[in-house]
This record gives sequence, structure tokens and C-alpha cells, in this order.
Amino acid sequence: MAEVRLVDIEKRYGNFLAVPQQSLTIEDGEFLVLLGPSGCGKTTTMRMIAGLEEITSGDIQIAGERINDKPPKDRDIAMVFQNYGLYPHMTVRQNIEYPLKLRGVDKAARTKRVQEMADKVELGALLDRRPSELSGGQRQRVALARAIVRTPKIFLMDEPLSNLDAKLRVTMRAELKHLHHELGVTTVYVTHDQMEAMTLASRVAVMREGRIVQLDTPKKIYAEPANLFVAGFIGSPSMNLVDGAVRNGMFRAEGIEVPVSLADREGVVIGIRPEELEIAGDASASINGKLYALELTGDSTLVTLRSGQTMLCARGPADFEAPIDAPCHLTPKPGARIHLFDRASGQRLDGTRH
Ligand SMILES: Nc1ncnc2c1ncn2[C@@H]1O[C@H](COP(=O)(O)OP(=O)(O)OP(=O)(O)O)[C@@H](O)[C@H]1O
Ligand SMILES: [Mg+2]
Repeated sequence: MAEVRLVDIEKRYGNFLAVPQQSLTIEDGEFLVLLGPSGCGKTTTMRMIAGLEEITSGDIQIAGERINDKPPKDRDIAMVFQNYGLYPHMTVRQNIEYPLKLRGVDKAARTKRVQEMADKVELGALLDRRPSELSGGQRQRVALARAIVRTPKIFLMDEPLSNLDAKLRVTMRAELKHLHHELGVTTVYVTHDQMEAMTLASRVAVMREGRIVQLDTPKKIYAEPANLFVAGFIGSPSMNLVDGAVRNGMFRAEGIEVPVSLADREGVVIGIRPEELEIAGDASASINGKLYALELTGDSTLVTLRSGQTMLCARGPADFEAPIDAPCHLTPKPGARIHLFDRASGQRLDGTRH
């Protein structure tokens, strides 16, 4: 177990700045998720920690020791690569067994452990196949099993579930969560699935263009996104974000009037999550428009309202029905969080309760 500290690390590929100077401390035993869109520097950050990518400047410390010049094999890190990185000439069994063999674990213990891991990732019947004889999702599970077959100082997992079907992904997510609870190994986990980030992380680092734009618990990131980027990225369906202005304690945009506690100001974006809006009668509504679409999700109905150029989505009851283009009225639920952002900078201005 170990704390991982990145101090002012920077990565350039030629002239291209992939990760600008940044610092991050991953606490001992923490499950830290790097979340961000494609190309934002997640894999690069992981590979720098693993020692597979040279850092252009800065320091990396593991358990207080500067390890910049330590070769990957001496860092005691187990990694799941985004592209699996399996040994093609080895069978599934040999792939999973390999880290144990390297460390001189005896044959009987190895065999038992490999079988346990293969069962955990539901590959028990495929142990004698080679990677080329497996589907993408099966290969990914071999990579996962190979990483978790022993207890390292640090786990680095780069999109380890991205190729699994929805059901298996949920099962494996629970396995990983349990494993982390059992072993308490410091884990850095990359995903662009925000649901995975929310459910697994002790803290989430939301990245954009190489920079961490918010680092916080999943709860805090959901409840108080620091800027428009995070607000739009976390939550499904996304937070409704509408441009307008505040005058006399009222946020106004076409078809929208919501009381807020903010001084008069132009260039304000209001943010309200779909689950915090409810369908209202016209007299009490603060958002008025026409019904644009209804989507039944099973346990609820997503109600999209259109007002001028603006679309807003509310999560309504499963049995809600109305004709498309009929007048539609929404209002924030009592106690709903109203988020306010500055249009120009994208930064959070304030939050109020409805
Ligand atoms: N060897 C390389 N040479 C030049 N540029 C690179 C190299 N590797 C990565 N990059 C660039 O660095 C940036 C970050 O890449 P990285 O692989 O870290 O992204 P990522 O966040 O892991 O994305 P994804 O979600 O698609 O895996 C990208 O713009 C990428 O094109
Ligand atoms: Mg990547």
C-alpha cells in the first residue's frame, strides 16, 4: 500500500503539451478515478505513474520515495492496459499466472489462484485458449485477472471494463469494489463512463485537456460542479444549462423565470438537473414551453420541453403521458439545487435551494 504523489509533472510529445504541469496526491488506500473525454491525458498520466512513459519534468513519488528513474518492474504496480497488452503466445492460464511466476510463487498455489481469478472474471472454461481466440471483452477480462492475481502496492486500471456488455460491466464493477474493500490497495482507475466513476471512486479527478478541473468526492462533484464543463459531464441525462441574466432576484431566459439569490448580472448560466424538475400546472410553473419529446426509461419518463431555442429535460413519472407540442410546464422541485455559472469564465457563481 502506498501514497502516490505527482509533483508538477508535465508531459510533452515534441511540441504537443499532453499534460501541462500538474500536481496530484493519491492517498494511501484511495480509489481515485480519472474521468474525462477522449484525448484529455488519462492514459498518459497512468503510463507516467507506471514508468512506461518518461515524464518531461516534475517528480513522481510512491510512499514518499522519488521513483522517476526506477524501471517499471521495480515499482510494484499492476496495470490493466487500455489495449489489454496480453502476451499473444501464452494461453489465458499462462497470462494470468505470469505475475505469480515472476515472483516465484509455487506451482500448486499458482494453479489455485489462477482458477480463482478466472472464475471471478467468468473465464474459468477458457483457460487453455490463446488471446487471438478470444473476443474483445474476454481479452479484457484476462487483462483484469492478470492484474488482480497478486496484491501490488498500486493498481492502475485504464478502462478495464470498457468492452464488456452492460450486465457484465455491472457485475465486474461490484467485484472491483469488493476487491478494493478487501485489499485496500491504492488504485488509479480511468474511465469516461461517469456512472462507473460515481459508483467506484473515493475521489474523482475530472480532466480536460491535460488539466484536472475538479478533484472531489463523487457526491460533491455531483452536487457542486465547479464549472460548466463538469456540470455538463456528470449526470445522465445531463444537467439542463440555460443562458440568461439575473435581475431583481430572478433568473430570466425565454420561457424561464426562476428565483435565485444572486445580484443583478448578465451572462449567467443556470443549471438544473432533470431529476430536480417536476411537471407543474401552468399557474405555478417557472418554465413554460411545448412538449418536444417523451422517452420512457422504465422507472421514469424523460420529458423534454422546448422553449424558443432552449430544450430542457425533466425526469417525470413512468405513467406520464401528453401529446407532443402540447403546452408543457416544469418547475424545480422543493429543495432542488439551482446551480449558477458565469458564461464567460464557465466558473460556478453560487448555488441556491429552490
Ligand atoms: N506517443 C504520442 N505522441 C504524440 N502524441 C501523443 C502520444 N500519445 C498520446 N498523445 C496525445 O496526447 C493526448 C493525450 O492522450 P491520452 O492517450 O493520454 O488520452 P486519453 O485521455 O487516455 O484518451 P482516451 O479516452 O481516448 O483513451 C492526446 O491528444 C494524444 O493524441
Ligand atoms: Mg486512454
